Amino acid sequence: MSQPRSSLKNILVTGGSGFIGSNFIRLLLTDEGLLDDCRIVNYDKLTYAGNPENLSDLEGDERYEFVHADICDAEAVERTLKTYEIDAVVHFAAESHVDRSILDSSPFIHTNVVGTQILLDACRRVGVSRFVQVSTDEVYGSLPASGFFTEETPLAPNSPYSASKASADLLVRSYCQTFDFPGIITRCSNNYGPYQFPEKLIPLFITNAMNDQPLPVYGDGRQIRDWIHVVDHCRGVLAALLNGQPGQVYNFGGLCELENLVLTSTLLRVLGKPESLITFVKDRPGHDRRYAIDCRKAAEELAWQPQISFKQGLEETVEWYLSNNEWISRIRSGDYRKYYEQQYGQRLG
Ligand code: NAD
Ligand code: TYD
Repeated sequence: MSQPRSSLKNILVTGGSGFIGSNFIRLLLTDEGLLDDCRIVNYDKLTYAGNPENLSDLEGDERYEFVHADICDAEAVERTLKTYEIDAVVHFAAESHVDRSILDSSPFIHTNVVGTQILLDACRRVGVSRFVQVSTDEVYGSLPASGFFTEETPLAPNSPYSASKASADLLVRSYCQTFDFPGIITRCSNNYGPYQFPEKLIPLFITNAMNDQPLPVYGDGRQIRDWIHVVDHCRGVLAALLNGQPGQVYNFGGLCELENLVLTSTLLRVLGKPESLITFVKDRPGHDRRYAIDCRKAAEELAWQPQISFKQGLEETVEWYLSNNEWISRIRSGDYRKYYEQQYGQRLG
């Protein structure tokens, strides 16, 4: 990994209390020790998905600051950029779950599109030197049985979530073209790992199986996702921040395509739970069939590649959830219960 750009002193991370943002901040401040002279400011609204517990181990670290605010609040954004003399922004904050975007797309448009525009305008006024838009492979739509998404694949989002992320990406692109804005876009495949909110497939199925509850597989379960460990994704975002070229897009993937049903059986095996927990439920509307990433550009230009094998990553992730029952219980006893009933038509046990 190359050394940090010396010009980066104060980095704003939006959405740092969520799944990927918290892993990213921990990577910056602990695992890599790369940015010892930098201050990290976590700007987060703490929606249902934002959890201060995800970073409780960093309390007292003087290189870390938390700002509780909304990216749609233009004044708060600008004040924060100025107060902390921010020179780089890594933008994770978003509404992130496809099923919730099908139930109600308005928070997705508000945060993911309008919030990104507000952030971009404030960054432009203040004059940051780097802005990384953390995006998703879902903006490319769905693949047939063969082929891969490259950075040149046309955008064809199929869910309100992916449409809102594609819109934000296009805003970043337009600011680069129109204002010479130093924006970089990263697009990653499905992440898994510690601190993921249990609405997403892997933590949902782990936590349900731990409680001997059914695992709701959508449709025929033959959809394919490319799984990447969150730390590999975070290393990619960091590489893009330090060494990416403004105006460029970089794809990241785990080189690990799996059918949902195969993944589900693997999870049950790791957990020592029976296959009879698998329950087929009504398919997600507009369900993308297959995602697969060509990440050669990131390998060639950022010297990045995924390092954590799926076997090791999954076993460690299962171990993390088994060891963090209180973290899970606090989520499963709150508002999440209402969402679960609305989404799956049954009560969370
Ligand atoms: P998450 O839902 O776990 O976390 C989102 C965070 O953003 C939360 O802390 C939340 O409080 C915060 N937030 C939401 N709205 C906000 C607002 N208006 N102002 C300030 N903060 C706000 O999401 P995640 O899975 O960590 O994803 C992070 C980013 O990575 C998203 O932009 C997502 O599109 C992208 N991404 C996710 C995946 C994945 O597999 N999870 C893959 C590729 C890209
Ligand atoms: P998810 O984790 O929601 O990620 P995304 O939709 O962003 O890819 O879902 C991953 C895959 O798992 C996707 O094909 C939908 C499927 N899935 C289920 O079969 N059942 C579920 O309860 C969930 C949440 C997802």
